[in-house]
Amino acid sequence: MRTTVVLLVLLGCCLTGAQLQNERGEITQRNLQPDIWTELQKLEDTVVDQRVQLGVLEARLKASESQVVELKTDNKALRDTVVDQRVQLTAVEGRLKASEDQVVELKTGNDALREMVMDQRIELGATKTELGSVEGRLKSIESQVLQLKTENDALREMVTEQRGELGATKTELGTVEARLKTSDSQLEELKRENKDRPKVAFSAGLTDAGTVGPFNADTTLVYAKVITNIGNCYNPATGIFTAAVSGVYYFRFTAHGSGSSIYIGSVLSKNGNRIVTTYNYQGTGDSYDDSSNAAVLQLEVGDQVYVQLPTNNRVYDNTSNRCTFSGFLLFPM
Ligand SMILES: *[C@@H]1O[C@H](CO)[C@@H](O)[C@H](O)[C@H]1NC(C)=O
Repeated sequence: MRTTVVLLVLLGCCLTGAQLQNERGEITQRNLQPDIWTELQKLEDTVVDQRVQLGVLEARLKASESQVVELKTDNKALRDTVVDQRVQLTAVEGRLKASEDQVVELKTGNDALREMVMDQRIELGATKTELGSVEGRLKSIESQVLQLKTENDALREMVTEQRGELGATKTELGTVEARLKTSDSQLEELKRENKDRPKVAFSAGLTDAGTVGPFNADTTLVYAKVITNIGNCYNPATGIFTAAVSGVYYFRFTAHGSGSSIYIGSVLSKNGNRIVTTYNYQGTGDSYDDSSNAAVLQLEVGDQVYVQLPTNNRVYDNTSNRCTFSGFLLFPM
């Protein structure tokens, strides 16, 4: 645009110079006074100058106008841009507002979260401490568990061993039980037998009165002091044992002598028959003597056994029971 203006100004100047030369020629020819010519010349110069200036101003005006147009266009574009930007700005403002609201909201949320984080940090600390203690306990429990497992294994082994032993013992026990049962029944039988078995046993002392005898005939000694008399087969009034059960019996008797130059003795008789005897002559200075004998006899029910003092013999007894007669059933037959 500026180039155009310069060109226009130059063109204006050239045209004006040519016209002036022509006009000057005509004026000279007319032979006007020099002052007027000078004046005129000045005016002409002024006109020319003003024309030049006008041209310049016109050019500048034109330039300005085109600039104005250009600026208007620019302005329009700028206005549009401004409008656009205002719209965009409004949109951005709206978004900003929303974002700000969100920021406020997020801040609030953030505060709450921060509080929660703080709380959780405290809780976490406590939990960690607790965890430590729990871990300690767990460790101790684990070692206990390990120990118990070992013990358990040992016990299991023992149990297995004992199970085997128990099995053997049970078998043995079964055998023993069977034997015990047999023994029990045998025992019961024996008990029954024993209960049913006749019981006969006696012992008796002769007298507390001292010397018995001598007599002119064999005399049955009456052992009056009963010590024992199971079955009541011995009669302390007669001195005679009478068998109530047939069987084998054992009898024993003892004769004691007190004095000197005397005969002591006694005879065990069965149904009037002498079976075994004792005898002793007690010489001078021989104060005490004892003689004794015994026999196993098989008796039938009703058989009688007793001890007799032979003729001219004597015996002595007192509370010490020096002379005794005893017997018992060995077994029935
Ligand atoms: C019984 O007699 C004996 C002698 O035969 C005599 O030693 C004893 O002291 C007498 N006992 C009593 C209690 O009399």
